Amino acid sequence: MEKKNLDWANLGFGYMTTDYRYVANYKNGAWDKGGLTDDPTVTLNECAGIFHYCQEIFEGLKAYTTEDGHIVTFRPDLNAVRMMDSAKRLEMPPFPAERFLEAVEEVVKANAAWVPPYGSGASLYVRPYMFASSPVIGVKPADEYQFRILVTPVGPYFKGGVHPLTICVSDFDRAAPHGTGHIKAGLNYAMSLHAYVTAHQNGYDENMFLDPATRTYVEETGGANFIFIDKEGTLVIPKSDSILPSVTRRSIAVVAKDILGMKVKERPVKLAELSDFAECGVCGTAAVVCPVGKVVDHGREICFPSGMESMGPVIQKLYDTLTGIQMGKIEGPAGWVHKI
Ligand code: PLP
Ligand code: COI
Repeated sequence: MEKKNLDWANLGFGYMTTDYRYVANYKNGAWDKGGLTDDPTVTLNECAGIFHYCQEIFEGLKAYTTEDGHIVTFRPDLNAVRMMDSAKRLEMPPFPAERFLEAVEEVVKANAAWVPPYGSGASLYVRPYMFASSPVIGVKPADEYQFRILVTPVGPYFKGGVHPLTICVSDFDRAAPHGTGHIKAGLNYAMSLHAYVTAHQNGYDENMFLDPATRTYVEETGGANFIFIDKEGTLVIPKSDSILPSVTRRSIAVVAKDILGMKVKERPVKLAELSDFAECGVCGTAAVVCPVGKVVDHGREICFPSGMESMGPVIQKLYDTLTGIQMGKIEGPAGWVHKI
């Protein structure tokens, strides 16, 4: 199979139209057979539920080419389950996990020419999503839904690749107590856009959102979870019911504990204790693992000892091990790397 003629090493994190996408429809209480299409457009009724009451959920995972030339995805079973959890919270019909996995496989295989080659630093971003497709005008769940998967080749999420970020503590909340912060619903991202634009206008790379009830604990950014390394070298992970349970963060916790022999603590992290940490980073499918050099809380600068030049040594080790497993260079736990 011949690869597309793209400048793989210089891709940004953007969308381009690829050859095939997967589509399935839910109608009369059941999902249809589904399949691939080459049509990238979606045509819906003007009153479709997605447009008015924002019934939409999505996922994000990546397909890579390993060192020995296989196309693989990383722990897609966790995305399948998380999407079912998201669906239940928004009163949408869950797309069954086994069908999710088959659909990912089918759409990645069909777009194999778009999967970046090993060593390019790029990957194929896989975006499953589902939305209310039938008309609703009173506030209630729709009767019909569409599940789709698009794929697009991507480079690094943050401009300029992996370099320490400067993050500001946001004055806005991305989630509500007992709300939808723990699921992957488009509405959470709409909520975060004003904060994102404001942070950028003020020269910051991203926001640190705080817990919406007390605004004293660290939550996450608009698209990634935080990780911290304390002065004893322990991995500290913020615990909260209103952040997304990141597949990357859960994998890093296992890598730290079982492969690198580190101590791992998952607990609420106070904004007030940030200056006690040696290293800080953000992690997610799109972001992978990115170091944070500085957090600014209304003029108060918290500079991590790891500095603004490079990744701290512990986060570097976590990054190398995780990406080594994803690329097939390091043997990871059974079932993590899924061959297409
Ligand atoms: N937090 C938010 C709000 C996200 O959108 C994402 C991205 O999916 C993450 C965290 C990281 O999650 P994952 O590692 O599963 O991609
Ligand atoms: C992902 O990491 O897959 C996400 O969905 C985050 C998004 C901000 C790109």
